[in-house]
Amino acid sequence: MQMAIDGPAGAGKSTIAQILAQKLQLIYIDTGAMYRALTWKALNLKIALDDAEKLYNLARDTDVYFLQVSDEQKIYCDSVDVSGFIRTPDVNDKVSLLASHSQLRKIMVEKQQKMAQGRSVVMDGRDVGECILPSADYKFFVTASLEERALRRMADLQRQGHKGCYEKVKCLLKKRDESDSNRETGSLKILNDSIVIDTDNKDIEEVIAEILSIVKDN
Ligand code: DC
Repeated sequence: MQMAIDGPAGAGKSTIAQILAQKLQLIYIDTGAMYRALTWKALNLKIALDDAEKLYNLARDTDVYFLQVSDEQKIYCDSVDVSGFIRTPDVNDKVSLLASHSQLRKIMVEKQQKMAQGRSVVMDGRDVGECILPSADYKFFVTASLEERALRRMADLQRQGHKGCYEKVKCLLKKRDESDSNRETGSLKILNDSIVIDTDNKDIEEVIAEILSIVKDN
Protein backbone atom coordinates (compact mmCIF):
# COMPACT_ATOMS: atom_id res chain seq x y z
CA MET A 1 0.00 0.00 0.00
CA GLN A 2 1.21 3.50 -0.76
CA MET A 3 -0.24 6.52 1.00
CA ALA A 4 0.37 10.21 0.33
CA ILE A 5 -0.19 12.81 3.04
CA ASP A 6 0.14 16.39 1.87
CA GLY A 7 -0.80 19.64 3.53
CA PRO A 8 0.48 22.93 4.92
CA ALA A 9 3.15 23.39 7.61
CA GLY A 10 1.99 22.70 11.15
CA ALA A 11 -1.09 20.67 10.19
CA GLY A 12 0.24 17.58 11.99
CA LYS A 13 1.13 15.57 8.88
CA SER A 14 4.28 13.98 10.25
CA THR A 15 2.74 12.93 13.58
CA ILE A 16 -0.22 11.44 11.72
CA ALA A 17 2.00 9.71 9.15
CA GLN A 18 4.20 8.17 11.86
CA ILE A 19 1.22 6.74 13.74
CA LEU A 20 -0.30 5.40 10.51
CA ALA A 21 3.04 3.83 9.59
CA GLN A 22 3.05 1.92 12.87
CA LYS A 23 -0.58 0.85 12.69
CA LEU A 24 -0.51 -0.17 9.03
CA GLN A 25 3.06 -1.53 8.96
CA LEU A 26 4.22 1.02 6.41
CA ILE A 27 7.62 2.62 5.99
CA TYR A 28 7.48 6.30 6.89
CA ILE A 29 9.23 8.80 4.61
CA ASP A 30 9.25 12.45 5.69
CA THR A 31 9.98 14.32 2.46
CA GLY A 32 10.03 17.71 4.23
CA ALA A 33 12.91 16.47 6.40
CA MET A 34 14.88 15.86 3.19
CA TYR A 35 14.42 19.48 2.06
CA ARG A 36 15.31 20.58 5.57
CA ALA A 37 18.52 18.51 5.57
CA LEU A 38 19.57 20.11 2.29
CA THR A 39 18.76 23.56 3.68
CA TRP A 40 20.93 22.81 6.73
CA LYS A 41 23.82 21.87 4.44
CA ALA A 42 23.33 24.89 2.15
CA LEU A 43 23.37 27.23 5.17
CA ASN A 44 26.52 25.58 6.51
CA LEU A 45 28.24 25.92 3.15
CA LYS A 46 26.95 29.50 2.85
CA ILE A 47 25.30 28.78 -0.49
CA ALA A 48 22.91 31.58 -1.40
CA LEU A 49 19.35 30.25 -1.41
CA ASP A 50 18.61 32.04 -4.68
CA ASP A 51 21.52 30.37 -6.50
CA ALA A 52 19.54 27.74 -8.44
CA GLU A 53 22.58 26.16 -10.10
CA LYS A 54 24.61 25.68 -6.90
CA LEU A 55 21.52 24.32 -5.14
CA TYR A 56 20.86 21.90 -7.98
CA ASN A 57 24.45 20.62 -7.70
CA LEU A 58 24.08 20.38 -3.94
CA ALA A 59 20.91 18.26 -4.26
CA ARG A 60 22.55 16.05 -6.90
CA ASP A 61 25.72 15.46 -4.88
CA THR A 62 24.25 15.07 -1.39
CA ASP A 63 23.24 11.71 -0.01
CA VAL A 64 20.12 12.25 2.12
CA TYR A 65 18.73 9.11 3.75
CA PHE A 66 16.86 7.74 6.74
CA LEU A 67 18.09 5.18 9.27
CA GLN A 68 16.04 3.50 11.95
CA VAL A 69 17.96 3.72 15.26
CA SER A 70 16.03 1.66 17.88
CA ASP A 71 12.61 3.33 18.01
CA GLU A 72 13.66 6.50 16.28
CA GLN A 73 14.00 7.38 12.63
CA LYS A 74 17.08 9.51 12.02
CA ILE A 75 17.87 11.55 8.94
CA TYR A 76 21.41 11.67 7.59
CA CYS A 77 23.02 14.15 5.26
CA ASP A 78 26.03 12.39 3.75
CA SER A 79 27.20 10.57 6.88
CA VAL A 80 26.11 13.17 9.44
CA ASP A 81 23.04 12.60 11.62
CA VAL A 82 21.25 15.94 11.14
CA SER A 83 18.01 14.99 12.91
CA GLY A 84 18.71 17.49 15.69
CA PHE A 85 19.61 20.37 13.35
CA ILE A 86 16.78 20.53 10.83
CA ARG A 87 13.93 22.00 12.90
CA THR A 88 15.61 25.20 14.07
CA PRO A 89 13.94 28.58 13.45
CA ASP A 90 16.64 29.34 10.85
CA VAL A 91 15.91 26.21 8.79
CA ASN A 92 12.12 26.74 9.27
CA ASP A 93 12.42 30.21 7.73
CA LYS A 94 14.64 29.26 4.78
CA VAL A 95 13.51 25.81 3.67
CA SER A 96 10.63 26.95 1.49
CA LEU A 97 12.93 29.19 -0.54
CA LEU A 98 15.32 26.31 -1.20
CA ALA A 99 12.36 24.07 -2.10
CA SER A 100 11.10 26.59 -4.65
CA HIS A 101 13.77 25.69 -7.23
CA SER A 102 12.25 23.45 -9.93
CA GLN A 103 15.47 21.75 -11.02
CA LEU A 104 16.39 20.89 -7.44
CA ARG A 105 12.86 19.51 -6.95
CA LYS A 106 13.31 17.16 -9.93
CA ILE A 107 16.33 15.59 -8.22
CA MET A 108 14.51 15.31 -4.90
CA VAL A 109 11.43 13.73 -6.48
CA GLU A 110 13.63 11.13 -8.22
CA LYS A 111 15.35 10.28 -4.91
CA GLN A 112 11.99 10.05 -3.13
CA GLN A 113 10.51 7.83 -5.83
CA LYS A 114 13.52 5.50 -5.56
CA MET A 115 13.01 5.28 -1.78
CA ALA A 116 9.37 4.31 -2.29
CA GLN A 117 9.81 1.96 -5.24
CA GLY A 118 8.21 -1.43 -4.62
CA ARG A 119 7.65 -0.71 -0.93
CA SER A 120 4.62 -0.08 1.25
CA VAL A 121 5.07 3.50 2.37
CA VAL A 122 3.38 6.51 3.85
CA MET A 123 5.03 9.73 2.67
CA ASP A 124 4.24 13.21 3.87
CA GLY A 125 5.02 16.50 2.16
CA ARG A 126 3.48 18.93 -0.30
CA ASP A 127 3.75 17.22 -3.70
CA VAL A 128 3.54 13.56 -2.73
CA GLY A 129 0.14 12.92 -4.33
CA GLU A 130 0.88 14.98 -7.40
CA CYS A 131 4.54 14.27 -8.23
CA ILE A 132 6.12 11.55 -6.06
CA LEU A 133 3.34 8.95 -5.83
CA PRO A 134 0.73 9.97 -8.42
CA SER A 135 -0.71 6.43 -8.29
CA ALA A 136 -0.87 6.21 -4.49
CA ASP A 137 -3.69 4.05 -3.12
CA TYR A 138 -4.71 6.90 -0.81
CA LYS A 139 -4.10 10.62 -1.03
CA PHE A 140 -4.93 12.70 2.02
CA PHE A 141 -4.70 16.46 2.32
CA VAL A 142 -4.33 17.18 6.04
CA THR A 143 -5.01 20.75 7.04
CA ALA A 144 -5.97 23.10 9.90
CA SER A 145 -6.58 26.83 10.29
CA LEU A 146 -3.57 29.16 10.35
CA GLU A 147 -4.31 30.04 14.00
CA GLU A 148 -4.42 26.42 15.14
CA ARG A 149 -1.24 25.59 13.21
CA ALA A 150 0.57 28.57 14.76
CA LEU A 151 -0.40 27.37 18.26
CA ARG A 152 0.93 23.87 17.47
CA ARG A 153 4.18 25.30 16.06
CA MET A 154 4.62 27.38 19.25
CA ALA A 155 4.26 24.24 21.35
CA ASP A 156 6.85 22.45 19.16
CA LEU A 157 9.30 25.34 19.51
CA GLN A 158 8.82 25.43 23.29
CA ARG A 159 9.41 21.67 23.53
CA GLN A 160 12.73 22.22 21.75
CA GLY A 161 13.66 24.98 24.20
CA HIS A 162 13.16 27.87 21.71
CA LYS A 163 11.06 30.89 22.56
CA GLY A 164 8.36 31.83 20.09
CA CYS A 165 6.17 34.87 19.58
CA TYR A 166 2.69 33.76 18.44
CA GLU A 167 2.19 36.62 15.97
CA LYS A 168 5.64 36.08 14.43
CA VAL A 169 5.14 32.32 14.15
CA LYS A 170 1.75 32.91 12.51
CA CYS A 171 3.19 35.42 10.06
CA LEU A 172 6.07 33.07 9.09
CA LEU A 173 3.65 30.15 8.59
CA LYS A 174 1.48 32.35 6.35
CA LYS A 175 4.54 33.34 4.33
CA ARG A 176 5.58 29.69 4.03
CA ASP A 177 2.05 28.68 2.92
CA GLU A 178 2.17 31.35 0.22
CA SER A 179 5.62 30.35 -0.94
CA ASP A 180 4.75 26.60 -0.91
CA SER A 181 1.48 27.27 -2.80
CA ASN A 182 2.79 29.62 -5.45
CA ARG A 183 5.91 27.93 -6.77
CA GLU A 184 6.19 26.64 -10.32
CA THR A 185 6.33 22.90 -9.62
CA GLY A 186 5.13 20.60 -6.87
CA SER A 187 3.10 23.32 -5.21
CA LEU A 188 0.84 22.81 -2.22
CA LYS A 189 -2.70 22.19 -3.46
CA ILE A 190 -5.73 19.97 -2.99
CA LEU A 191 -5.89 17.44 -5.83
CA ASN A 192 -9.12 16.16 -7.42
CA ASP A 193 -8.40 12.71 -6.02
CA SER A 194 -7.28 13.73 -2.52
CA ILE A 195 -9.42 13.43 0.60
CA VAL A 196 -9.34 16.51 2.80
CA ILE A 197 -8.89 15.92 6.53
CA ASP A 198 -9.52 19.06 8.58
CA THR A 199 -7.81 18.63 11.95
CA ASP A 200 -9.15 21.80 13.65
CA ASN A 201 -10.64 20.98 17.05
CA LYS A 202 -9.76 17.30 16.70
CA ASP A 203 -7.20 15.44 18.75
CA ILE A 204 -4.75 13.10 17.10
CA GLU A 205 -6.75 9.95 17.98
CA GLU A 206 -9.83 11.34 16.22
CA VAL A 207 -7.84 12.19 13.10
CA ILE A 208 -6.23 8.74 13.00
CA ALA A 209 -9.63 7.07 13.49
CA GLU A 210 -11.07 9.15 10.62
CA ILE A 211 -8.27 8.13 8.24
CA LEU A 212 -8.34 4.47 9.31
CA SER A 213 -12.09 4.31 8.77
CA ILE A 214 -11.58 5.51 5.18
CA VAL A 215 -8.78 2.98 4.61
CA LYS A 216 -10.81 0.10 6.10
CA ASP A 217 -13.93 0.96 4.10
CA ASN A 218 -12.04 0.53 0.83
O1 DC B 1 6.71 19.47 6.13
P1 DC B 1 7.85 20.39 6.51
O2 DC B 1 7.40 21.64 7.22
O3 DC B 1 8.92 19.70 7.27
O4 DC B 1 8.48 20.86 5.11
C1 DC B 1 9.52 21.79 5.06
C2 DC B 1 9.48 22.56 3.75
O5 DC B 1 9.88 21.70 2.69
C3 DC B 1 8.15 23.16 3.36
O6 DC B 1 8.12 24.56 3.56
C4 DC B 1 8.02 22.89 1.90
C5 DC B 1 9.11 21.93 1.56
N1 DC B 1 8.60 20.67 1.05
C6 DC B 1 8.36 20.57 -0.28
O7 DC B 1 8.51 21.56 -0.98
N2 DC B 1 7.96 19.40 -0.82
C7 DC B 1 7.78 18.33 -0.05
N3 DC B 1 7.41 17.17 -0.60
C8 DC B 1 8.00 18.42 1.34
C9 DC B 1 8.38 19.63 1.87
